[in-house]
Amino acid sequence: MAALRDALIETMLLDEEQFRRRLPDLVDTHQLRTVDPDHAGDSPAGIIRALDGFETGSVTPFEREYIAKMVRLGTAPLGLALTGPAYQDNPVRYATQTLQEMTGYSLATLRGENLRLLQGPATDPEAVATLQEGIDIWERRTVELWNYRADGTRFKNRVTIVPLTGPDGSITNWLGVQEAIDTADS
Ligand SMILES: Cc1cc2nc3c(=O)[nH]c(=O)nc-3n(C[C@H](O)[C@H](O)[C@H](O)COP(=O)(O)O)c2cc1C
Repeated sequence: MAALRDALIETMLLDEEQFRRRLPDLVDTHQLRTVDPDHAGDSPAGIIRALDGFETGSVTPFEREYIAKMVRLGTAPLGLALTGPAYQDNPVRYATQTLQEMTGYSLATLRGENLRLLQGPATDPEAVATLQEGIDIWERRTVELWNYRADGTRFKNRVTIVPLTGPDGSITNWLGVQEAIDTADS
């Protein structure tokens, strides 16, 4: 799913207008049967308002833009996470339905947590260090590491983290893309 991973990241980085135009094409090219291209044109404000238990004021306008795109890609086969602010240890601001299902954690539980909460005894410290290094120097990184679901079972997660440049040119937030590549649970 490397091609889909790249396409999802590229699509997430588009502005709202370009995103709307790209979504049907993305759905078609990658046969994303669970993503409804008819929602491409939904208004970002309406999307955020419709989110259960989500206070609009609790996220920045920049984060709202990303969340509105993530909701429309929320059932894609790869999970998406928005974290920030980076200087406060990247708490989760939003996690898609797929990521919630992959981890067994609800959005309410994930919000405010750093995604290291998915790590456990079998997690490779070198992979964690690679992510940490990427965050330190604001660069994209991809690693594979063992993560643990809420029920304690583990899965091999291929994670890409992408720095997001905010309106003032600084890196305020990060986008995560998660793919369960091995669901062995022993
Ligand atoms: C956007 C984003 C998504 C992340 N997703 C995951 C993830 O799915 N699984 C994981 O084990 N770590 C994930 N991480 C990495 C941890 O949050 C953390 O950065 C990493 O453990 C290194 O920091 P530490 O050494 O302080 O724990 C993600 C980080 C960011 C910024």
